[in-house]
Amino acid sequence: MPATAVIGAQWGDEAKGKITHFLARQATMTVRFNGGPNAGHTVQDAHGTARLHQVPVGALHPGCVGVLAHGVALDIWELRNELLALREQGRPEPVLLLSDRAHLVLPHHRLREEHEGSAARIGTTQRGIGPCYADRAARSGIRLGDLGDVQQIAAHLGGALAQLTPHDAAGRIDPEVVATELVDFRRAFGTHIADTRAAIQSTLDKGLHVLFEGAQGTLLDVDLGTYPFVTSSTTTVHGVGWGSGISAGHIERVIGVAKAYTTRVGEGPMPTEDSSPQGEHLRSVGAEYGATTGRPRRCGWLDLVALRYAHDINAFTELALTKLDVLAGLPEIRVCTGYRVHGTVCERWPSTLDELAAATPVYVSLPGWRDPLSDARTWEELPRAAQDYVRFVEHALSVPVRMVGVGPEAEATIVRPD
Ligand code: IMP
Repeated sequence: MPATAVIGAQWGDEAKGKITHFLARQATMTVRFNGGPNAGHTVQDAHGTARLHQVPVGALHPGCVGVLAHGVALDIWELRNELLALREQGRPEPVLLLSDRAHLVLPHHRLREEHEGSAARIGTTQRGIGPCYADRAARSGIRLGDLGDVQQIAAHLGGALAQLTPHDAAGRIDPEVVATELVDFRRAFGTHIADTRAAIQSTLDKGLHVLFEGAQGTLLDVDLGTYPFVTSSTTTVHGVGWGSGISAGHIERVIGVAKAYTTRVGEGPMPTEDSSPQGEHLRSVGAEYGATTGRPRRCGWLDLVALRYAHDINAFTELALTKLDVLAGLPEIRVCTGYRVHGTVCERWPSTLDELAAATPVYVSLPGWRDPLSDARTWEELPRAAQDYVRFVEHALSVPVRMVGVGPEAEATIVRPD
């Protein structure tokens, strides 16, 4: 069975966790290929609410192996805490496979983020992601498979700490302690640390189903997003090859996940942001607060220019439109169909910040609906205006909306027939 990729079509937080959890029931293996503890995937099921930053969502299903491939920035402390929290919820222990090529997020990476000012300038999640990927590119990072000698690692960490000001580093990190914890972690995980590229390949070669779990969203991609207000990894479908070593040729379904409106956390342009009471309505009804940082998310209307751009990049075979229930009760729903840039209306996503700053959204207004959607489980149960909204989106993008989210629980997902 070929592979499926779940990709965020906006600025992250599209409810990919819920959709991935739903789809992973049929997967043998589920793979995180980008990002690290900056991701926050929320799953609600019979065991309660799980907030996952490192553990792949699909690995909550017994029988589905969770892989952290080499493109993931791996924070072993976060991973350990998460596994502990899952155990406390009475969940079965996830079966994990960690790439021996994965780069480690180390305590000094978080300090460096503060020190360099990127945390405030970009509004990062402050999880050390940028410095970890920077070390990787500069060929000065530490990989999970290379953890052997405590003294050698301690010396490496000591050198990295020496580059921070004494105030940043003083007394906050002991290289020997960190090095020992790292080596102990490697021992404890033993054979679960492996060449994950080969493991994924062999699963695909057996004809078994592999699910690739994207983290963040297309507009946060380090190259194709709103640079520099982006994360430091490849968040699009191209990240599957980049971060797992598997050919994109194996991917048959590319599912773009988009909210029925738009949100963003952190700094950077967001043309359809709405700071009026309607934007506030979206935030309070949609509980739009970051799963990793708790920050209030910026909210606004659905942006079809952005979604078309995401579709061009990822060639979605289908869309999952999530949180449609949040729009209930609004008398009218606005959708951005184009941008006016220096007096001209265009549908192309601008590639520079200057162009984006000059873009003002052109909206169409669609009728809202009054009835709540959270109890709907079939397409037919949705009010006519809600169906029309979904149809409007799929016609504008020429991509079928196969799944519609109407609530946080897994079963609050309407799967439309072909
Ligand atoms: P970083 O990934 O922590 O370096 O943060 C860079 C930017 O990406 C900031 O604007 C973050 O708010 C944003 N970001 C990172 N991860 C996520 C996510 O999982 N959801 C939404 N935004 C994210």
